[in-house]
Amino acid sequence: MMETQQTIAAMSVPTNSTIRTVMQAINSGALGMALLVDEQTGAFAGLMTDGDVRRALLAGMGLESSVEGIQRKSPFVAKAGTPLSEIAGMFSEKVRVVPLLDDQGKVADLAILDRRMRLPVAEPTLGERELEYVTECILTGWISSAGRFVVCFEEQFAAFCQTRFGVATSNGTTALHLALLALDIGPGDEVIVPSLSFIATANAVAYTGAKPVFVDIEADTWNMDPGAIEAAITPRTKALLPVHLYGHPANMDPILDIARRHNLYVVEDAAEAHGALYKGRPVGGLSDIAVFSFYGNKIVTTGEGGMVVTNNEQLAERVRVLRDHGMSKDRRYWHPVLGYNYRMTNLQAAVGVAQMEKVERILEAKARVSATYDALLKDIPGITCPPRTEWASPVCWLYTLLVDESTFGKSRDTFMQVLQQHNVESRPVFPPMHKQPLYDAGITLPVTERVSDQGVSLPSAVSLTTTDIERIVGVIRAMRE
Ligand SMILES: Cc1ncc(COP(=O)(O)O)c(C=O)c1O
Repeated sequence: MMETQQTIAAMSVPTNSTIRTVMQAINSGALGMALLVDEQTGAFAGLMTDGDVRRALLAGMGLESSVEGIQRKSPFVAKAGTPLSEIAGMFSEKVRVVPLLDDQGKVADLAILDRRMRLPVAEPTLGERELEYVTECILTGWISSAGRFVVCFEEQFAAFCQTRFGVATSNGTTALHLALLALDIGPGDEVIVPSLSFIATANAVAYTGAKPVFVDIEADTWNMDPGAIEAAITPRTKALLPVHLYGHPANMDPILDIARRHNLYVVEDAAEAHGALYKGRPVGGLSDIAVFSFYGNKIVTTGEGGMVVTNNEQLAERVRVLRDHGMSKDRRYWHPVLGYNYRMTNLQAAVGVAQMEKVERILEAKARVSATYDALLKDIPGITCPPRTEWASPVCWLYTLLVDESTFGKSRDTFMQVLQQHNVESRPVFPPMHKQPLYDAGITLPVTERVSDQGVSLPSAVSLTTTDIERIVGVIRAMRE
């Protein structure tokens, strides 16, 4: 408190001060602004930021000009004692300090936006190594899809998945499109997908001209229900496309068994599950071909980016050709098949290589985050923690739980609104794909619909501290009181 009072005193200057005095006050307070106060009463009269000073100087004012008349008259202020949730709504990229006034209108305290105050659902873990490698790309000019980082990232990532081949792409959706094309999936074919996923899973099937056929999920994994697959198989079915949703592996053995019996391919959508293990084996290497996403909120990111992994050399080769305009390996600018430009840039891969150097640390931090949530949330009635099965070692892409309104006493949407009021970001589980306008199949898939209605993802960034998680859980507990 003493420190804040000293800061307020250092930042405060009379309303008729010169620009020089205001600049000195900005400097002493170190908060990027000065407080203008009435000389007689000491009441708060306005403020000036360093940007205001810059603009005044550019407009021709001198250091000795008086700032009277140019300070902001109606900045965001609040009465001392205003609830944090109200003050939080005033903060923005531009407003980072809110003066709190006592009954005499004097500045009694300052509410300062701490980046930690607003807890995001996800944030990338970027550091000096990413900067170093990207800088290398810029300094050497290797910024497109040729360059050392692309191949290096492909090798690193394939090794991480224990697969023989990795082919980097521009994003996870293009990876999925190429994986399906490499299996020759196209018009007239059907691909069975779980209805609970990001829309890209079904869209990639539709891009090929094939039809996505939606099945329900299991209640204990939130992934494709093996028991629902056989009823969905028709003579046109070509592949099964399980998703390892939110980082929990799909129940692969029964899925692979059905595929074998019906002569179907299996493609894993592992976009959200980097490093997850199914019966001790990494996801991505469990099927014919698999894909990952490296979007900015993913466990490993390249900004935008994707990867196809496989143990099948022919499939890897087909993906490479299709990724590069269908150009023949042996003759430049010769195109036997219709391909695409779905390449990853060296700039993206540079970030990916740096990310892979610390992937184990990222996964450990994610495991700590989910274990802390589990421990603090497990006994709250109406809250269901994310799936855990004996046979899987999931990773925590986004810590996602269910809110059962009838027991918890608040709906999922109210739950999210209250978190928002406390500056805690959250996000709803995907709407079922079989209900999306694009694919509305007029069917009911009860488990998918329940998880979609009740599911919410909480902040899951690597940088979350135990105190942050305690704060979030404190807000959740208070909702029941
Ligand atoms: C399950 C799933 N599949 C596919 C994708 C597509 O990946 P991208 O966003 O990199 O295109 C995502 C992405 O967020 C996803 O969550």
